[in-house]
Amino acid sequence: MSPHKQIELKLQAAVREILPDADVSVVLVRPCDPKFGDYQSNALMSLARTRKLNPRQLADDTLARLDVSDVCEKVEIAGAGFLNFRLKKSVLAQTLEAAARGEHLFFTKAASPKTVVIDFSSPNVAKPMHVGHIRSTGIGDALQRTLRLLGHRVISDNHIGDWGTQFGKLLLGWKQILNRETLDRDPIAEMERLYKVINLECDANPARLEEAKSELVKLQAGDVENISIWQEMIRLSQIQFDTVYSRLGVKFDRALGESFYNPQLGEVVNDLLQCGIARESEGAVGVFSDGSLSPKEDPFLVNRDGEWVADPALIRKSDGGFNYTTTDLATVDYRLKTWSPDEIVYVVDDRQSGHFKKLFLIVARWKPDAAKSTKLVHIGFGKILGDDGRPFKTRSGDTVKLGDLLDEAEARALKIVSEKSSELSEAQRREIARVVGLGAVKYADLLPNRQSDYVFSWDKMLALQGNTAPYLLYAYARIKSIFRKSEAEPAIRNPQSAIVLTAPEEITLAKHLLNFGLTLEAVAEEYRPNFLCNYLFELAGHFMRFFENCPVLKADDAATRNSRLALCDLTARVLKQGLETLGIETVEQM
Ligand code: ARG
Repeated sequence: MSPHKQIELKLQAAVREILPDADVSVVLVRPCDPKFGDYQSNALMSLARTRKLNPRQLADDTLARLDVSDVCEKVEIAGAGFLNFRLKKSVLAQTLEAAARGEHLFFTKAASPKTVVIDFSSPNVAKPMHVGHIRSTGIGDALQRTLRLLGHRVISDNHIGDWGTQFGKLLLGWKQILNRETLDRDPIAEMERLYKVINLECDANPARLEEAKSELVKLQAGDVENISIWQEMIRLSQIQFDTVYSRLGVKFDRALGESFYNPQLGEVVNDLLQCGIARESEGAVGVFSDGSLSPKEDPFLVNRDGEWVADPALIRKSDGGFNYTTTDLATVDYRLKTWSPDEIVYVVDDRQSGHFKKLFLIVARWKPDAAKSTKLVHIGFGKILGDDGRPFKTRSGDTVKLGDLLDEAEARALKIVSEKSSELSEAQRREIARVVGLGAVKYADLLPNRQSDYVFSWDKMLALQGNTAPYLLYAYARIKSIFRKSEAEPAIRNPQSAIVLTAPEEITLAKHLLNFGLTLEAVAEEYRPNFLCNYLFELAGHFMRFFENCPVLKADDAATRNSRLALCDLTARVLKQGLETLGIETVEQM
């Protein structure tokens, strides 16, 4: 068990002795400013506040019952009732030695694993994947990797948009204006063209719209020809999706598209009507406010000119067709029944937050028991902007295709790698450029707080200095080069080599390594991969300072050399594991 966890458990036990009814799960111990110690707990102050106790007194009483002398130096009370802990250097060294023996890598698997469904990426058929898809795909993938690493059970599900009214227009286009040659060459572009042309025609000409609608009705009724064209459109799109996913190294357990739920939609609507949750309105069926929330918080109301008016979630259109919400309700139902998950997580951009608020409230009314045991979470994120502060577009104003973006990333990285490492072979440089280019795009997307918009900048994300993937990859490769130089790998594989921490840079680096697990847990708890980005950036910084100040291969004696090599190796392992958890590969040299 990590020293941090030991402190936390002992502190919780001490608090429980004093306040038997307190919820000790809020008694947490967190890394802190090294001025005060290595770890700190501020939990006693809020516990004291809610109970009208003197926080200093509570801290004194707790301390009297707390024996952490096996892992800590003397514990200090500070300020209004903070507890500050400083690890014993011997414990620090022992923890690193155990890691060097391969017993752990500074994290432990969750004691009670959760089952989590993650709905992410979810592109639409017959459309190109564009730059925006990097967000849901990258964040979702980083989350599934983090949760899996911590031992949780994850079902990643790609909710592909393979059903809906757009197929009426697509079918009409396919039958009347399809260009087979372009379709063979670039199926997505051709399908996009079909949709655009027919859509314009439909806007101008109601008769055309009727034609499209009747194609849709035929599809929905199972018409053999329309079904087979529709399947062909899905097949062609899936090839595109698979190409992008394999480049990005993203895997899904399931890809149950919207069409999978189609057979259930009628029943969902009937069920909601019967339970009195939905009602008819102007020929359509919708779910309305039940008045349980204040208007400001109620997503089923919207303010128009100072007045609150109904903004229902529609689940059946007046023509009998179903809505996005209907499919999502059927999807929740299926996921609850199939996996009884603890959580269902939707990684979808913030513009859909209204949709998810409504969806979750409907589920709470429709399946109150399941809603209590399964947490539904929308993990939203902001937009990618161009230099001009508007959504990122190509120079000609088109959306940026994801495939093109990844090509450009690799090409730009190749230029940099070729300048820096001209001695490497062309094949090596290409491989490094692939990892660096893709890593740079992914990392730049994971680094900002996910709810903020960020400005897309090639120069920034590809810079070798600063909080970037190239910087981290370089730090990793740098460490690897030490081992190449020294042929020292066998030495650090020697599990007996003791770790001696004397220089302040060694100690700082060692302490930071210990916090890897806490960081992973924070990512999993708050669904924020950026915590891990920042942790790794700091780790690389601590390493660089250690490396500048503490000779490794030229250390004074063999014991110091081996200890420092072990520190190098552990840093490399955490960097590699951390980057991998963000979905970023590493290269051994750069
Ligand atoms: N295909 C949808 C879109 O492009 C995203 C689907 C997100 N997942 C969900 N269960 N609604 O907007």
